[in-house]
Amino acid sequence: MDKLMWVDNQQYLLQKNIEQTIAFLHNFAPDQVNRVTTFHQTYENFKQTPLRSLNALASLVGVDNIKVKDESFRFDLNAFKVLGGVYAIGRYVAQMLGRNIDELSFKELKSSKVKEQLGDLTFISTTDGNHGRGVAWAARELGFQARIYMPAGSAEERLQNIKNEGAYAEITTMNYDDTVRYTSQLAKENGWVIIQDTMWEGYEEIPLWIMQGYTTLVKEIVEQLENAPTHVFLQAGVGSFAGAIVAFLTQYYEQEITFVLVEPYAANCFYESFKEGTEQFVTVGGEMQTIMAGLACGEPNPLAWDLLKTYTKVSICCDEEVAATGMRILGNPLATDARIIAGESGAAPVGCFYELMTNSQYTELKDSLQLDKSSRVLFINTEGDTDIENYRNIVWHGKYAKM
Ligand SMILES: Cc1ncc(COP(=O)(O)O)c(C=O)c1O
Repeated sequence: MDKLMWVDNQQYLLQKNIEQTIAFLHNFAPDQVNRVTTFHQTYENFKQTPLRSLNALASLVGVDNIKVKDESFRFDLNAFKVLGGVYAIGRYVAQMLGRNIDELSFKELKSSKVKEQLGDLTFISTTDGNHGRGVAWAARELGFQARIYMPAGSAEERLQNIKNEGAYAEITTMNYDDTVRYTSQLAKENGWVIIQDTMWEGYEEIPLWIMQGYTTLVKEIVEQLENAPTHVFLQAGVGSFAGAIVAFLTQYYEQEITFVLVEPYAANCFYESFKEGTEQFVTVGGEMQTIMAGLACGEPNPLAWDLLKTYTKVSICCDEEVAATGMRILGNPLATDARIIAGESGAAPVGCFYELMTNSQYTELKDSLQLDKSSRVLFINTEGDTDIENYRNIVWHGKYAKM
């Protein structure tokens, strides 16, 4: 099998509800993003994550520059996901209190006055690891309960990390999408609040808040960058992360940016949807076994689908070796490039980019993306070594080596 498969997203673009999509962008406009960042910054240990330059790698593969935003440093949780979960919980609590999030801080949300007004709240979620850890962290920080459910095959270490945040957590016997349906049923039966990073009919507000929560990282990026990127490679599970980044950057910069989506073969719902070329996305099912656990989702978030089908250029799906190569490249930098510890889902876009820049089999793709010595390429390392055993197996012991 090929290491990469790709499809031109625009070739299939059907823009029936384009006005609606453009109107939806206002949720990610700078004034909205400022509200999100202001709330996050009320956390007493808030710190920006670094944006690294990989100049030696850029000259090796023949582009102008490569920047990597390293979210492994986010809130000491080794992944970006907490930004969404904590903002959604903050917005939910603010709504319950009849208050505006703009005037609430972490400190006030934690206060006994708030507990007296709201009583005990339990937040429930499905996760591959990172989102649930963020929700568990946020619930604990703010003095609430969390119940987190993980799909079959989830790493024990990721389960333990969630339990360490004081949440009830278990690994189910179902895949990701079925676990989402299960937790939504549990929430209904028990009066728990679902904090899920994807939407479905009748459940739209909280997923939007989660997507807005992610924008703090991209606001930091534009402040850290000197020039607009020409290309941005974004990993997709349900697409909420990529949708939020695309929605913000599309409005922030006047020049056009080429957005590329990256998924694993085993859970390539965006690739399959673009291949199908219809207005509605398609879903993929089954076990979705992949080391890119954060991307093992077979059903796109409809909000994200609308954004991504309007603003992205290409969808790539890749095999496990490509993600593993990305981890090794980032963990073993050239010359004075910074070392970046990237997990499987964090490194997949760098692995894809390296493959298409260095493997003549993908010259057509490289040319169609106009990746050349004038390109400024941006990546987001969305997680660090969230599964340390697998990280070592790959980076130290050469598991999933490129053949
Ligand atoms: C590390 C990591 N990267 C990327 C993603 C993809 O985010 P989304 O599901 O919003 O597409 C996830 C999702 O859990 C993740 O954990």
